[in-house]
Amino acid sequence: MMKDIRIAPSILSADFSRLGEEVRSVEAAGADLIHFDVMDNHYVPNLTFGPIVCASIRPHTKLPIDVHLMVEPVDALAMEFAKAGADLISFHPEATQHVDRTINLIKDSGCKVGMAFNPASPLHVLDWTLDKIDLILIMSVNPGFGGQSFLEHSLDKIAEVRDLIDLSGCDVWLEVDGGIKVDNIASVAEAGADTFVAGSAIFGGTDYKNIISQMKNRIS
Ligand code: DX5
Ligand code: ZN
Repeated sequence: MMKDIRIAPSILSADFSRLGEEVRSVEAAGADLIHFDVMDNHYVPNLTFGPIVCASIRPHTKLPIDVHLMVEPVDALAMEFAKAGADLISFHPEATQHVDRTINLIKDSGCKVGMAFNPASPLHVLDWTLDKIDLILIMSVNPGFGGQSFLEHSLDKIAEVRDLIDLSGCDVWLEVDGGIKVDNIASVAEAGADTFVAGSAIFGGTDYKNIISQMKNRIS
């Protein structure tokens, strides 16, 4: 049975002088989620935007807002993004002192919760959290910048996480983030991903609808 698949354009590569318009355009073009790459120039060597941008975009899209927190510490900002209208909040487990507490905080705020794993991060924290989360985000680049090349060894990690999820019987999305293109998305789906972040591949083009439908066609 064909599993649900989701394309999540990352606004990191959008034209920030027309951000509302860009979000409306990718929604009209068939996007399933809007991915917000939040960077604090502490956990990652780059700085993007805070909850105020989430709050301003919120009324302009019906799509779920998928917030990827590349910040340390996590808790206070996660609460602010929940208030600003986020639907899903993912954080890096290394960026919080107490992973279980952060998961509970995000869930108690009414949002779905995910955990993001850097290319060299081990997966063992999932042993005690897989049944509590809604999404696993596998970084196929080192976090901090759009437009990087897909790290091929991520495919093995994606396959390992797919097995973990299937064995657990838990309903957890497997999202991959970084270097996803029309030409490699089929291999990422083949490895077991069901949710795909793409920034430069989409916003770097002109015909968003064509790019997103090509991505979906390559997967199905
Ligand atoms: C890295 C960011 C990027 C972004 C996607 O910290 O998370 O991976 O979402 O960027 P592209 O699709 O341009 O690699
Ligand atoms: Zn991201």
